[in-house]
Amino acid sequence: MDRKLPQFFFALSLIALALLLAAIWQSSHPSWKLYQREYYKLESQGEPNAAAKAAIMDTSLEIHQELLPGLQRVDRCTTCHLGVEDPTMKDAPEPYRYHPNLAPHSPARFGCTVCHGGQGLATDKENAHGNVAFWEEPLLPKDYVRASCGRCHKEGDIPGVPELTEGRRLFETQGCHGCHKLNGTGGSIGPDLTAEGASQRSPEWLESHFLNPNAVSPNSPMPNFHFTKEQARALTFYMLSLTNEHMATYYASASLIPSSGYGRQLFTEKNCIACHSIGGVGAKEGPDLLGVAKEHSSEWLDEQLVNPQQVYPGSIMPAYDLDANARKALIAFMSNATAEDAQAILAQRGKPLTPEEAAIEAGKQDFHRFGCAGCHGVNLQGGVPNPNAQGGEVPSLLHVSDDYTKDEVIGIISDGKQPPLADPHKPPPPLYMPTWKTVLSQEDIQRIADYLWSIQPKKEAW
Ligand code: HEC
Ligand code: HEC
Ligand code: HEC
Ligand code: HEC
Ligand code: HEC
Ligand code: HEC
Repeated sequence: MDRKLPQFFFALSLIALALLLAAIWQSSHPSWKLYQREYYKLESQGEPNAAAKAAIMDTSLEIHQELLPGLQRVDRCTTCHLGVEDPTMKDAPEPYRYHPNLAPHSPARFGCTVCHGGQGLATDKENAHGNVAFWEEPLLPKDYVRASCGRCHKEGDIPGVPELTEGRRLFETQGCHGCHKLNGTGGSIGPDLTAEGASQRSPEWLESHFLNPNAVSPNSPMPNFHFTKEQARALTFYMLSLTNEHMATYYASASLIPSSGYGRQLFTEKNCIACHSIGGVGAKEGPDLLGVAKEHSSEWLDEQLVNPQQVYPGSIMPAYDLDANARKALIAFMSNATAEDAQAILAQRGKPLTPEEAAIEAGKQDFHRFGCAGCHGVNLQGGVPNPNAQGGEVPSLLHVSDDYTKDEVIGIISDGKQPPLADPHKPPPPLYMPTWKTVLSQEDIQRIADYLWSIQPKKEAW
């Protein structure tokens, strides 16, 4: 035993020495230098002669960084990811591979972390990729990188990212606002979602939560909306895009991309089909628009949309107040629109509404936009569990006229209502009817009440 102790300490000091030497070696040979040497070796292989090869191998090893004050970050990812802008590196292994589809988001202006997450300043892989305890934003998994496009492009649709458009649509129509604030508007039963994409919630967590809130947040009062996997994924994309970052005007200026999807939406909203046909489908007041972008240049079409009178004196076509991106989007849509598109747009268009019907329609839209549907159901059927409320759930609104007059309902919407307790000894139910008079105008509330009355079953006369 006595003789073993010195041996033990000797072994221990050898280990300590080895660790010390390893640390010294590592600090003089940081891993990024190894990656850079490897990259230059790879690059020199393509050179024709020894002199050119040697010149590349002599490139000094240094940290590459992009200073991005407009995005409030500094990215050093290209210290290792050296080939992102070199198309000859398209088959190279990572981290050297060429980055397709990066334009117009050049590394010099955009860096990498605004799309990928990760820790921009770090120069070793684990830290840069953010897989460390204290860093809040690890790299987004490959399948979700495109969600970050919505951090800057906030309106219309984004080419190649239909999930974001769908996620935003679901958010606006399913009543999420009823319980959640987003950019200052909405209820406060659930957390504020304005910066949900910058929280530590992983995409996997968000997706499971949308499929079944109770599975990851036991006893959550958030209803199970019975979303499909695709819908849960679309909402996850939308949530990940909500980071509420402050960006310089250059980055915010491209909020709207003039895509043909957005053009289609404008073509529908502006009711162009009321005068025009595409491929023979539609109205005949104006010319058929199939192939119109082949007959005329984009400049001509743009001018024509700004000022039809100038192009065709006496034209009956209205001059629309459309901004440059909106006109570009319309032209993009017209360049590939077909008879099927016209058919779909016509099918989507309801019949003309009477003023009363229009008011009820507006009430219906308010009901969805302000989040009533989140608690009372998209079809007003109620049924969201509300433990310890009488009845145990949020009431259906399909028969309110049985219990209340219209004025009483207007009062409930204006002032809110705490549900009576089923058991006075248990905690109050998580969901209550919020006060709306601070959020909605008196007309909005009246219109919502009109909408509710429009769907009440007609009472039989005795
Ligand atoms: C020290 C070198 C190094 C730095 C710095 C670095 N990376 Fe990497 N990266 C790699 C290597 C090596 C791979 C190849 C896959 C692997 O080994 O994990 C890789 C792979 C990736 C991948 C694809 C695979 C995956 O893990 O999803 C992405 C995306 C990526 N890096 C993004 C970034 C971003 C963004 C930064 C800057 C915040 C960055 N990297 C900084 C070395 C680096
Ligand atoms: C405009 C947003 C954007 C920027 C900026 C950006 N990327 Fe990407 N990156 C993407 C998208 C989108 C993908 C494709 C993901 C997919 O396949 O769906 C991708 C893919 C990658 C991959 C391959 C991932 C894999 O798992 O195969 C790597 C590596 C990568 N990027 C690194 C970088 C680096 C390094 C930078 C900075 C020079 C950078 N990216 C800048 C959006 C961006
Ligand atoms: C940091 C903000 C930011 C992010 C993130 C971002 N973009 Fe952009 N995007 C811009 C800006 C700014 C421009 C205008 C660039 C220019 O013209 O100088 C632009 C331009 C574009 C254009 C060209 C629009 C046109 O007018 O033709 C497309 C398409 C596009 N982005 C798609 C994407 C996609 C897809 C993603 C995600 C992979 C993405 N963007 C992520 C800011 C961003
Ligand atoms: C009846 C009220 C209610 C409605 C309607 C509702 N939520 Fe929630 N939500 C909550 C409550 C309460 C929580 C906190 C408990 C939990 O994690 O489930 C929550 C949590 C969340 C979270 C997690 C936030 C975090 O990081 O902790 C997200 C994301 C979310 N909701 C999104 C939505 C979306 C999107 C919709 C619309 C489809 C929606 N919610 C509708 C009440 C609601
Ligand atoms: C009230 C009817 C009417 C509406 C609504 C209308 N247009 Fe027109 N448009 C016309 C007529 C008529 C012409 C033929 C030239 C003229 O007299 O102005 C025309 C011409 C055009 C042309 C030029 C076609 C050519 O081959 O010369 C384009 C492009 C066009 N319209 C696009 C649109 C778009 C896009 C919308 C919706 C934003 C729209 N129009 C809405 C009536 C209309
Ligand atoms: C956070 C969930 C929540 C939201 C959002 C919400 N309600 Fe309610 N609402 C309730 C609850 C819970 C009750 C039941 C109160 C009670 O039992 O007295 C209720 C009751 C009502 C009643 C009375 C029905 C009855 O049978 O007692 C009406 C009418 C009503 N809500 C309309 C609306 C409208 C319109 C909106 C949107 C502007 C809305 N609610 C948004 C939870 C909600």
